[in-house]
Amino acid sequence: MSSHIESPQIFDPLNPDHFPDPVPHLAAARERCPVSTPREGLHVLTHDSDIRGVLADTVTYSNKGNFSIEPEDVPLPFATITNADAPVHTELRNRLRKNFAPAHLRTLRAWVEGIVESAIAGLPADGEIELYERFVRVIPASVMHTFIGIPEESWAKAQDWGDIVVETVPAPLGELPEFGQLLGLLGGLVAERRARPTERSDDVLDNLCFAAPGERTMSDAEIVTHIFQLVVAGTDTTRSLIANCIWRLLEDPSRWDTVVADRTLLPNAIEESLRVDSPAQFLVRTRKVDGTIQGCPVSEGDKVYLSLQSANLDEATWGPNAGRFDPEREDAPGHVAFGRGVHACLGAPLARIEAIAAIGALMDRYPGMRLSPRATWVNTGGTITRRPREVLVALAPLP
Ligand code: HEM
Repeated sequence: MSSHIESPQIFDPLNPDHFPDPVPHLAAARERCPVSTPREGLHVLTHDSDIRGVLADTVTYSNKGNFSIEPEDVPLPFATITNADAPVHTELRNRLRKNFAPAHLRTLRAWVEGIVESAIAGLPADGEIELYERFVRVIPASVMHTFIGIPEESWAKAQDWGDIVVETVPAPLGELPEFGQLLGLLGGLVAERRARPTERSDDVLDNLCFAAPGERTMSDAEIVTHIFQLVVAGTDTTRSLIANCIWRLLEDPSRWDTVVADRTLLPNAIEESLRVDSPAQFLVRTRKVDGTIQGCPVSEGDKVYLSLQSANLDEATWGPNAGRFDPEREDAPGHVAFGRGVHACLGAPLARIEAIAAIGALMDRYPGMRLSPRATWVNTGGTITRRPREVLVALAPLP
């Protein structure tokens, strides 16, 4: 992993100098200052045990303001599932369980494999290509949009606008035209769906538009908020996982070759990728009462930035080789890349199915694939996501 900065400054999530590669700055923070306060009212936690402690404690911490590290939170007409606390959160999570039950998600495997097959069919037999745009980017978007119930003719627009929104956060979204356009598109879909109450399906839009007996009827604006959150939560994160895992396997070609030869190693390689390059870099919680963390005073209303990336690289948990990508690391699935506790990721089984299908299909078709000698990891924009902007590969080994 890259770490070329001499005497790195302690990590500050709002310092643009730290965006391109936060890893050395997080390491400096873990070593020197497990709780730092780079801005008034914003405390950064980098130790795995402290982060797990906060994630488990819904009495002391609220999800209000999650993902927002600016003093002003992103104004949304309704709390999204990741920003809500009980009982609003419990009600919504229970409602979404219909779509997210792990047994139901597992039945989607063949359908996901079909999406991957059509994406890979469009690639050439050999030569050098940029794999992120040509292959990786389309898979989670197609899966997510179908899962939600967004018709295919709107996929491209939803994807383009959603990508701009993700790259813009944590800056406020209020003035961003693409944010308004995406909400407008989703609002139109909700209205259309509600106008056809007899045409039912098993997607998320159907679930939220039509209350079952004993469930609350949601307003159109509330449904739009939840669907918006899902587009953001399920698309960019999963694309990052697929891109990151391909990169780490190809970075040392013997890793790729080992997993090609023994495909049972792929699921663990994906867990190790989630650990070493956490697609969602951080979560935010808001303190409900005055108190201390590791002896540092934290006041009611203060924000606590939980670096999932740092927790997943913490030497105290993962040992002296924490920074090394080892597809055969036995405890890799213990990472916190999908969060923990009552808000743990609902889509994790689907993300794993997508990653296995996408990388497995590449291994079938291009067993000799290599990173291009011209490939360099340049981190994508924004502070939430970790992935290379481009994945330049030679589909067959170079002569
Ligand atoms: C590699 C891919 C993914 C990563 C790394 C990821 C990461 C996360 C994390 C860290 C959380 C916890 C949020 C918190 O505690 O505040 C979360 C929650 C969530 N994720 Fe994912 N996610 C991924 C894929 C997906 C997919 C594919 C979907 C949808 C199909 C999804 C839907 C959700 C939902 C609905 C929640 C909210 C759960 C709640 O607040 O109760 N995620 N995700």
